Amino acid sequence: MAQLGDMSKDSFSGAFYFPTMVFNISCSDHIALNDYLIKCIYTERERDGKGIERSNFRKLGGWHSHNNLHKEQAYKPLTDRVHQAGRRISQYLGYHSGKHLTVGTMWSIINAPGSSNKAHIHPGSHWSGVYYVHAPQNAGDIEFTDPRTSHIMDQPDFEPGKQRSKENWTKVRFTPKAGKMIIFPSWLYHGVDPNMSDKTGKDGERVIISFNMSQKGG
Ligand SMILES: [Fe+2]
Repeated sequence: MAQLGDMSKDSFSGAFYFPTMVFNISCSDHIALNDYLIKCIYTERERDGKGIERSNFRKLGGWHSHNNLHKEQAYKPLTDRVHQAGRRISQYLGYHSGKHLTVGTMWSIINAPGSSNKAHIHPGSHWSGVYYVHAPQNAGDIEFTDPRTSHIMDQPDFEPGKQRSKENWTKVRFTPKAGKMIIFPSWLYHGVDPNMSDKTGKDGERVIISFNMSQKGG
């Protein structure tokens, strides 16, 4: 008979709940797409001048376009792509098939070397994303923070020298890569490291298009 208090023969199981999903898309035709988009974006910066200030730091060389690029015909190839991604996400998550994740705002950010984006969320939408148009080496990772503040507050010690399973991470970082699209819940805090590229001029600039989507229709 097993000793009282011995759990070696007890059943034991665990499951993760409240997951935070981040989608990663690699656009297969990104070279042609980005050649096209970069021209549109620089034309817009030329026209627009100093842009607006949101998470970017204008004084450090961060330019932020207006928020309605999706309403311009020039950006239709990317807007269409984002809507297709929205459909995939809706199917994947089992959302109402009569409703569609629809772009409500879309903008571009150019971070010159030395500029970054402060941590922020995107209120008023369901899913947000970023598409990398140009990303030199060391252009600044995007970092997401565990939204469960209480989970960050008092972390237990994990086995030294062993990498934690990703379910136990409190930060997730992605290095920008031209052609990559990351789509994340709009409530998920994120920021962008300073662009530390040693390249000069446009070669050193980190260029992205970002967007918000909400479920519409039905
Ligand atoms: Fe953002």
